[in-house]
Amino acid sequence: MEFREGLTFDDVLLVPKYSDITSRSQTDLTTKLSRNISIKIPFVSANMDTVTESSMAVAMARAGGIGIIHRFLTIQEQANEVLKVKRSGSVMIENPYTISSEKSVQDAIDYADEKEISGLLVVDSSSKLVGIVTERDYLFADTQRKISEIMTKDVISAKPGISIDDAKKILHENRIEKLPLVDDSGIIKGLITSKDITNNTDFPNASKDKKGRPLVGAAVGVKGDFLERSESLIDAGADVLVVDIAHGHSENAITTVKHIKKAFPDCELIAGNIATGKGAEDLIKAGVDAVKVGVGSGSICITRVITGSGVPQLTAVMDCAKIAKEYDIPIISDGGTRTSGDATKALAAGASSVMVGSMLGGTDESPGTVLTKNGKRFKLYRGMASLAANIGRKSKETGSISLEDDLNDYVAEGVEAMVPYKGSVSDILKQLTGGVRSGLSYCGAHTIPQMQTNAEFIKMSRAGFAESQPHDVSLM
Ligand code: XMP
Repeated sequence: MEFREGLTFDDVLLVPKYSDITSRSQTDLTTKLSRNISIKIPFVSANMDTVTESSMAVAMARAGGIGIIHRFLTIQEQANEVLKVKRSGSVMIENPYTISSEKSVQDAIDYADEKEISGLLVVDSSSKLVGIVTERDYLFADTQRKISEIMTKDVISAKPGISIDDAKKILHENRIEKLPLVDDSGIIKGLITSKDITNNTDFPNASKDKKGRPLVGAAVGVKGDFLERSESLIDAGADVLVVDIAHGHSENAITTVKHIKKAFPDCELIAGNIATGKGAEDLIKAGVDAVKVGVGSGSICITRVITGSGVPQLTAVMDCAKIAKEYDIPIISDGGTRTSGDATKALAAGASSVMVGSMLGGTDESPGTVLTKNGKRFKLYRGMASLAANIGRKSKETGSISLEDDLNDYVAEGVEAMVPYKGSVSDILKQLTGGVRSGLSYCGAHTIPQMQTNAEFIKMSRAGFAESQPHDVSLM
């Protein structure tokens, strides 16, 4: 049997090329996530329960990337996460949350908490706007009173179709933060908030859909409710779905892709994970709009240890990109990215974007709480095929788990871990994108496609690798 050589990030370097770039800002990181979706930075947050829910997805979209909401939630919970992202950044909210004036103050508090919003529009029995209730109104109020008794009446509103500049003027002149848009018969047609206007100007690089709302993706599985889940996620506004299965070059993945594409032909669909050109080709032929590449490369993966299967990530990306290029379908390199240098190598090898897990885990925006150990702060980060993640899923589905019946047979392909607490995700993304921009410059490229044309990899010896790290100094 002949053995091919499989290489990964630490095995290679990119050979520096002449560059006419005088400042990193001359580089453009715009790239394709999938056949019909472009993002402005090539980073995607992983669909893992310790990485991406709405906060992470909002931060990713604001920075110009995209987040994929994980699927280990009920259909309603996952669709709600998508909705939260969509509502977070649109200048005008199309269907603002409302509450009846007959309900209690406690109902208003609960509803605002559930939707994670700071105020609700109040309507009468014929759905007409009669007031607004915000924290200011209900703070210290008797929670059993009716909303109609404590709400702010005489709400300042505007007509649908108002320009943002006119809306700003009204918000400023009246020192208010929320401007409901109401038609001639008093029915609510939208809501403009000062926060959404500022968000829009504060994040000029944000990735947005046609309505100006943040881009967001969501994952689905290959069993059970995936069609119903897909429908709810699409209805909630998900721009792209990701068929998420550990072994994506499989009958299960391919039939799922075909079912989803048949039921929702306009749905932008990514599938993975695979690690070979044949895997990429079979998914592309089944109808996907992008392919996710990476088997066993993730920081918390033990697939290669447990099953003996996988392909070193750089070779996997190169093999898949070669085939996908023939079909003009983008590749997402998923797993194993520890530095901006790794990301640059994955992009140079043919990936259009990079999915990141551990680098974004441990941030303010990743789900979970900060833990302190020996005076240092951490957050939990776990493989979705780890025992802990499986216990979490099972107990959520059934309300309880039996260690003997449910877990003895479970063969974990991921581990539970802790990652250092890292603060805001936007700082991490600044470092990552700054590094990739410099990487482009070293390849003499202004854009990612140009870098893919120019890239020349050189294999390193162990000594070359050692030389590439800080050496012969005591690190502070
Ligand atoms: P990084 O290296 O960015 O990798 O932390 C994130 C990717 O790892 C994959 N993943 C898993 N792979 N067992 C695996 O073999 C697991 O339990 C597991 N959980 C996540 C996934 O592709 C993710 O994006």
